[in-house]
Amino acid sequence: MNNLILCGFMGCGKTTVGRLVAQLAGMAYLDLDQQIEAAAGLPIPEIFARFGQAHFRRLEHEAVAGLARLENRVVATGGGALVSPENAAAIDRKHDRVVFLDVPFPVCYERIRLSDRPLVRQNTVEQLEALFASRRPRYLAAATDTVAAAGPPQQVAQEILALAARPPACGAL
Ligand code: S3P
Repeated sequence: MNNLILCGFMGCGKTTVGRLVAQLAGMAYLDLDQQIEAAAGLPIPEIFARFGQAHFRRLEHEAVAGLARLENRVVATGGGALVSPENAAAIDRKHDRVVFLDVPFPVCYERIRLSDRPLVRQNTVEQLEALFASRRPRYLAAATDTVAAAGPPQQVAQEILALAARPPACGAL
C-alpha cells in the first residue's frame, strides 16, 4: 500500500489512531513531529522557544516534502503540517492517501488543554478555536478522505482501514 497520511487539529487522535492503523495493517508507523525532534535534537517546545515558530515550520516543510520518498507508512502529521498550500502541494495525492480526522473543537481542546504544546500555552481558548475554524477548510482541501473521528480510536482505525481499501472519496481521481 502507499502511504496513509493522517492530518487534523491538535488532539484529533492522529498519533493514537495512526499507531493502531499501522499495527492492524502491518505497516510501519512514522510520527512526523518525532522525526523533526530527532533531526533537530530538541523537543518541539524547545524548538519554538529557541528558534521560533517560523523555524519549526521550515523543518516541518522539509519533513513533509520527504514523505514523497517513502512507501508503505502510516504517517501522523502535526496539526499544522498540511495547513500551508506549499505543504499540501508537496503530497502526491495520486500516490498517498491523506485522511482528515474530523473531530469537533471542544473534544480536541479537552484533550490538549493541559499539554505543553507551544500553541496551546501561547493562545487562549478563543484563539485556538479561531485557529481551528481557519484550519478546518485547509484539512478538508488537503485530504483525499475525511473520517468523523471523535469516537473510540479502535473504531476510527477500523474505519480508516476500510476506506483505504476503497478508491479515494475525493481529490485524487
Ligand atoms: C502543531 C501541532 C503539534 C506540533 C506543533 C505545532 C500545530 O502536533 O506539530 O506543536 O501547529 O497545530 P500535534 O497536532 O500532534 O499536537
